Amino acid sequence: MLYPLPAVMISCADEEGRSNIMTAAWTGTICSDPVMVSVSIRPERYSHDVIARTGEFVINLTTEDLTFAADFCGVRSGRDVDKFEYLHLTKVPSKKVGAPSIGESPVCLECVVTGIEKLGTHDLFIAKVVQVSVDESYLDEKGRFVLEDAGLVAYVHGTYLSLGKKLGTFGFSVRKKERKEQRRTPLRDADRSEKRKAERSAERTDAAAKRKKERSAGKTDAAAKQKKERSAERTDAAAKRKKAPSANTAADRPDGKKKH
Ligand SMILES: Cc1cc2nc3c(=O)[nH]c(=O)nc-3n(C[C@H](O)[C@H](O)[C@H](O)COP(=O)(O)O)c2cc1C
Repeated sequence: MLYPLPAVMISCADEEGRSNIMTAAWTGTICSDPVMVSVSIRPERYSHDVIARTGEFVINLTTEDLTFAADFCGVRSGRDVDKFEYLHLTKVPSKKVGAPSIGESPVCLECVVTGIEKLGTHDLFIAKVVQVSVDESYLDEKGRFVLEDAGLVAYVHGTYLSLGKKLGTFGFSVRKKERKEQRRTPLRDADRSEKRKAERSAERTDAAAKRKKERSAGKTDAAAKQKKERSAERTDAAAKRKKAPSANTAADRPDGKKKH
């Protein structure tokens, strides 16, 4: 088999707006103009029929922070659990498709299915990318998208792995000038990149903590309200019981027996 693979999170929504996420590793870019992708999905997956019917899905790239969620979405079915809710993932309305995007993902590709090919165990979904959304915290001072700082994850033969050190950039093997510059300033460049990476990571951690706090504040309010309502119900019921004649004495019962 071919490795490494991306383990992406595919989000979709049915006609009633009920959303779901499944993990897929058998996915790839298959054309650059128009931008097209493919995903191989087994017919027995809950997502299979939703995507086949609606013709829409979103590919959300997976980061180190999303690895737990990605694994969960790959071992539990949307038939049994609302994965967005269970994992506290942020459901973001997509721009061009009905399927929601995952707010915590750095890159979301909105896709429209153009064909489904039955291959055997899997059906190959071929789709056009109609919208790309990126997390702007990964844009550098020049507006360049620094995807290598996003903490993307690779899937290799059953194991999720972080990506390692930078080994070069596209075409570096034939670019003489860059090779010389790399030799001259390797440490300074590496330091800058590490610093930027640390700053972005701190920003993301802050944002995640803020989101968690907001969510838990919302939950605390709702729980307090529910507790108050239940307590009021209990008080009413107790008052009613007090007023009603007791049915636990032999005299109160038609059969004359005492209830236990
Ligand atoms: C890392 C990983 C990669 C996976 N890749 C695929 C895939 O490419 N195609 C597929 O049909 N299922 C794949 N699965 C399995 C589905 O994600 C899994 O069956 C999931 O529970 C389906 O969810 P659903 O029933 O809610 O659609 C993968 C699972 C994991 C953990």
